[in-house]
Amino acid sequence: IFSGPISFLKSAPQLQFLPPAKAPEIAFAGRSNVGKSSLINALTNRNGLARTSNTPGRTQELNFFDVGDPLIFRICDMPGYGFAKAPPKVVQKWRYLINDYLRGRAVLKRVFVLIDSRHGIKPVDEEIMEMLDKAAVSYHIVMTKADKVKQEALAATVAQVAEIAKKHPAAHPEMIITSSEKKDGIDALRMAVLDAVQL
Ligand code: GTP
Ligand code: MG
Repeated sequence: IFSGPISFLKSAPQLQFLPPAKAPEIAFAGRSNVGKSSLINALTNRNGLARTSNTPGRTQELNFFDVGDPLIFRICDMPGYGFAKAPPKVVQKWRYLINDYLRGRAVLKRVFVLIDSRHGIKPVDEEIMEMLDKAAVSYHIVMTKADKVKQEALAATVAQVAEIAKKHPAAHPEMIITSSEKKDGIDALRMAVLDAVQL
């Protein structure tokens, strides 16, 4: 599936621009700069499919990608949250867009919540986890940029994340540890994605 056709479908800055719900969907959420777009590129084995950047807040819309032709499932690259320099208006707009998308999208099968291996879960991450719990959307925690931390530090962060995840009813009990840079954990992520869309 991941070596077949995958293409950018569209960008939705507001809810009325969402593509018609034609296939199961999965989404990637996480703080700004956590590595969502990079992970989508690693997952699909395509450089430059999702736009990546050093500038936090690069992705500001919901970006949809079609997997398979004919369409099998869709991937949504969500705008990053917790961007310190974002004006309050942008933050509010983000909250509405995300909340409406998470609550209203019946085809949304699972959200992958990305957590930076260097930072662990922050209050903004817990905020989206609570949003997901309330919307009853199941989610899977994915640690990113594992190449940037030493083994011991990674183990400590993983323990912190596991402890917090236990308190969240919609969180998958296990997490996936990845590095888009080193392509670590990508096979496990692919399995989880296929499982989420029931393939
Ligand atoms: P926004 O769209 O702004 O929310 O960011 P994003 O979450 O999509 O992050 P993006 O994929 O654009 O990556 C941000 C930066 O982190 C880029 O400079 C990437 O090259 C870098 N990066 C992403 N994944 C990894 C990784 O696994 N290892 C390392 N070392 N760097 C990474
Ligand atoms: Mg991005």
